Amino acid sequence: MSNSSFPAWLAAQAAQREERGLTRRLTESDRGEPLLDLAGNDYLGLARDARVVAGAIAAAQVYGAGATASRLVSGTLSIHTELEHAMAAFTGFASALAFSTGYHANLSIVQALADRDTLVVSDAHIHPSMIDACRLARADVTVTPHNDVAAVERALAGRTQRRALVLIETIYSVLGDAARVTALADLCAACDAVLVADEAHALGVAGPGGRGMLAAHGLTGRPDVIATATLSKSFGAQGGLVLGVPAVREHLVNRARPFIYDTGLAPAAAGAALAALRVIEVTPELACRVRANAAILAGACGIDAPAGAVLSVPMPGPREALASVATAAEQGLRIGCFRPPSTPDGISRLRLTAHADHTSEEIALAAKILRRIAPGVGQ
Ligand SMILES: Cc1ncc(COP(=O)(O)O)c(C=O)c1O
Repeated sequence: MSNSSFPAWLAAQAAQREERGLTRRLTESDRGEPLLDLAGNDYLGLARDARVVAGAIAAAQVYGAGATASRLVSGTLSIHTELEHAMAAFTGFASALAFSTGYHANLSIVQALADRDTLVVSDAHIHPSMIDACRLARADVTVTPHNDVAAVERALAGRTQRRALVLIETIYSVLGDAARVTALADLCAACDAVLVADEAHALGVAGPGGRGMLAAHGLTGRPDVIATATLSKSFGAQGGLVLGVPAVREHLVNRARPFIYDTGLAPAAAGAALAALRVIEVTPELACRVRANAAILAGACGIDAPAGAVLSVPMPGPREALASVATAAEQGLRIGCFRPPSTPDGISRLRLTAHADHTSEEIALAAKILRRIAPGVGQ
């Protein structure tokens, strides 16, 4: 390709996206009039909690602004160990490993466990980080229809590979529905497969005191059940986790390239996450509150109550979804939308999130606005 054709190629790509209503744009959410946030993933309202912010500041003061090296060089700090022990104890897993993001946690676990002699069975609605992880692992992948346990069973029964991994989210990020975790864990145990369950949208929200879906179903003690999680949603911070038996942690430290070749989690993020954990531990009602708010919001909108904090409203197309987001913003409400290619089934959706710190007045106002702008809502 000649240099002169490169700008033309970029312009053609941009024009194609624009024509289909699929252009992605970055907007600064801290500018302009403050909006009622039903778009972000700060489910428990902890990102701006004074105790959590103080945890970040204190950690930066003690450990510095960055971890300064990868974990295996000199970037493992005592605050990482403290965070890992505390998160394992909270969720009921035997051990944890912290990553710089949830994305890295997902890349790492699949890349480290899957090889060319592994079948990866992946739910159709799995997060893109897991999809990228499969590509990185170069494993054989079978994509099964969403939440279809029988399809997973068929895929595992027909496998020719020596080992198998099953990838799910415990609460799905786009649809907001829950996986059938017990059935899938039992199936994996029966088929000599490992279940890798992404708790990104369940940790802090689902299970007793926010301990997650796997804890809720008594699955955290099984050696063939592994969880991944992010600290960037309910915990209001940044970072990722893999939770499992110590042998899994040790394997990751030795084999997971996105862990080995990445600088350790920033101390401020670790400090914030630890502070958020302390808040969650002493305020178990936060998880109940966010679920109650989600149920009220869903009820007011005329859709089914979600498994966690995420509500999903199908829209006729991407332009309608964008128009609803803009109208909501004009009326004081920030909502999100997912458009292809970010939706696994190609359907554009409004994505709303409930937060534990929303008042009943705020939720009622949100429902009133949504009834006006979203076709199908409130029917
Ligand atoms: C289901 C799921 N897994 C993983 C991630 C990645 O987490 P992080 O933002 O910490 O990289 C996300 C975040 O968007 C997610 O929704």
